[in-house]
Amino acid sequence: MLRIDNLCVRYGGIVAVRDVSLEVHASETVLLVGANGAGKSSLINAVIGMVPAAAGTIAFEGRSLDNVACAMRARAGIGYSPEGRRVFPSLSVRENVLAGAIGAGIADKRERYDWLCGAFPLLAERARQPAGQLSGGQQQIVALARAMSAFPKLLLLDEPFLGLAPVWIDRISDAVRQMQGRGTTILMTEQMARPALRLADRAYVMRGGEIRRSGSADEIRAAALADEYL
Ligand SMILES: Nc1ncnc2c1ncn2[C@@H]1O[C@H](COP(=O)(O)OP(=O)(O)OP(=O)(O)O)[C@@H](O)[C@H]1O
Ligand SMILES: [Mg+2]
Repeated sequence: MLRIDNLCVRYGGIVAVRDVSLEVHASETVLLVGANGAGKSSLINAVIGMVPAAAGTIAFEGRSLDNVACAMRARAGIGYSPEGRRVFPSLSVRENVLAGAIGAGIADKRERYDWLCGAFPLLAERARQPAGQLSGGQQQIVALARAMSAFPKLLLLDEPFLGLAPVWIDRISDAVRQMQGRGTTILMTEQMARPALRLADRAYVMRGGEIRRSGSADEIRAAALADEYL
């Protein structure tokens, strides 16, 4: 579904992603694990079109994304939840979530919100509350639900567990499993390999902008036990 070949991302003289190739197959969950500055967000941002590829190609469903604008990538079925739980603080929880339901009519939006309330009970309890009043973990749920409300084919999650207590990590993991149950393909990044590997089929380890290792979630878990990135 997603195929990246020899991708490079640069910011002036800084090379953030160096010659990275990876694939995400339909219905699979793939984890990109790596420490601060490994290049995870840069790779995700290149897939959504927020930063340009300095070299290499990114293809979605067999079509190159070169020259495809951000908004068109979203319409093609690429959903994105950014790092750092960004919500519109003065909009209600419901408005935040449905801001992601691009192209949906009123009835469709109601149906999607109902489905999302099943996955995240918080959305029903707090539908009318301004999102800025929620806790960090609750805001992450709202950001995630916004990305899901487009019901994307490919969902990109950039560090969904960042800074969250175990109880919120468990809730977000449950929600990710519900998306997996819908057949959604997922590419997620994390520094915390342990909880993220429980959700993943396969993983890539990134360091210094390069892929250092790849394998099944079990292989990477075993390797991580012997290494420093767990
Ligand atoms: N807008 C930018 N301008 C200049 N350099 C940047 C920019 N964004 C990222 N970088 C640099 O690119 C490298 C990769 O950063 P990136 O944010 O992709 O890493 P990351 O793996 O997402 O890290 P984190 O886990 O901290 O989010 C780092 O050296 C970072 O300082
Ligand atoms: Mg990042």
